[in-house]
Amino acid sequence: MLKLSKIATVVAVAMSAGAAFTSTAFAGEVEVLHYWTSGGEAKSAAELKKMMQAKGHVWKDFAVAGGGGDAAATVLKSRVVSGNPPAAAQIKGPAIQEWASEGVLTNLDTVAAAEKWDTLLPPVVANVMKYKGHYVAVPVNVHRVNWIWANPEVLKKAGVAGMPKTYDEFFAAADKIKAAGLIAVAHGGQNWQDFTTFESVVLGVGGAKFYQDALVKLDAKAINSDTMKKSLETFRKIKGYTDSASSGRDWNLTTALVMQGKAGFQFMGDWAKGEFLAAGKVPGKDFLCAAAPGTSSSFTFNIDSFAMFKLKSADAQKAQNDLAAAIMSPEFQETFNLNKGSIPVRLNSKMDKFDDCAKLSAKDFVETSKTSSLVPSIAHSMAVSPAAEGAIKDAVSQFWNDDKITVAAAMKNIANAAAMK
Ligand code: BGC
Repeated sequence: MLKLSKIATVVAVAMSAGAAFTSTAFAGEVEVLHYWTSGGEAKSAAELKKMMQAKGHVWKDFAVAGGGGDAAATVLKSRVVSGNPPAAAQIKGPAIQEWASEGVLTNLDTVAAAEKWDTLLPPVVANVMKYKGHYVAVPVNVHRVNWIWANPEVLKKAGVAGMPKTYDEFFAAADKIKAAGLIAVAHGGQNWQDFTTFESVVLGVGGAKFYQDALVKLDAKAINSDTMKKSLETFRKIKGYTDSASSGRDWNLTTALVMQGKAGFQFMGDWAKGEFLAAGKVPGKDFLCAAAPGTSSSFTFNIDSFAMFKLKSADAQKAQNDLAAAIMSPEFQETFNLNKGSIPVRLNSKMDKFDDCAKLSAKDFVETSKTSSLVPSIAHSMAVSPAAEGAIKDAVSQFWNDDKITVAAAMKNIANAAAMK
């Protein structure tokens, strides 16, 4: 991803020109770069803004549209390289480590110690937020990626009895929805969405151990196995149930198809629930959630977090620390996650205001962590380096988009991409 060291000269020139790290911020301003622009996402982000304003700070919104955050990552790079980073940016997983290794992130240990983050966070989460033992980022939530969403009216119309637990049940249901003249699978054809479906298929077909070997450890034997072959075949079969307008479609417009009764299912993380909720839909009545076929005892996690950049002004630093503390507060964790579709990241958070999808997620998060079936999402940047992630996503999307690419060729392409790890 970022190769700041390689462009050090550019930065050095900017610095000597006096342009580096000149903050245009005024007292107590926090500039927050994020990609929460859909209905449910914007409602959630507004909660953070409200909380910061209540503390007397000025919120400078730096929203870069684009699900999954690729566009936001590109904009962030140019801001940091030009010596003008935002106070906080929505960055996660291994990318936090990469940014920290460039020396541009600030140390949050004081606020983390005061707020007891070490005792409040599961170690699997705290480790991602730290660089060389020091906090440089703050976690917002836990999203589960391996979900399938459905419109119960569509299922009823098509004569589908319930949520599919296996791929046999899934394809039988999808056939019925197709026969009823509706879209069986709402899919948005962008590479992160293709991979969101793909990783759920790999988890469902191969199980958590295989998922770890093939997609996290990028083990060549696992990538070239019969299980990967079966996963790719299953993934390609799903494509046959999508509509022809899927290419390039945003994820939230895709969720809308399910909402409006035009489509039966969508594979998507639980930010989709935030979208249903923002439209006033009721879980269990207007929409259904279930673990993607074959994955009820596994959990692909995706943790949103904000990395904090080094700033010059003391007021801006104060606002930044307040932002970090606010994000981890029980009040924010509850309100934000009720809107966002995710669950609080703090251990032992109260779940009584949450719906059944969230309660299931919270229960499974704890249970799967005891059985090694809590696995990081690749599609959502939790598992491999940004370079390997991009290359593997491209290989999988090319396979999805081009029927002429055989399963064997796709396996080879994934193995080549994985070699970038
Ligand atoms: C983020 C979510 C976001 C989704 C769609 C995911 O990678 O973790 O917070 O809602 O992308 O933009």
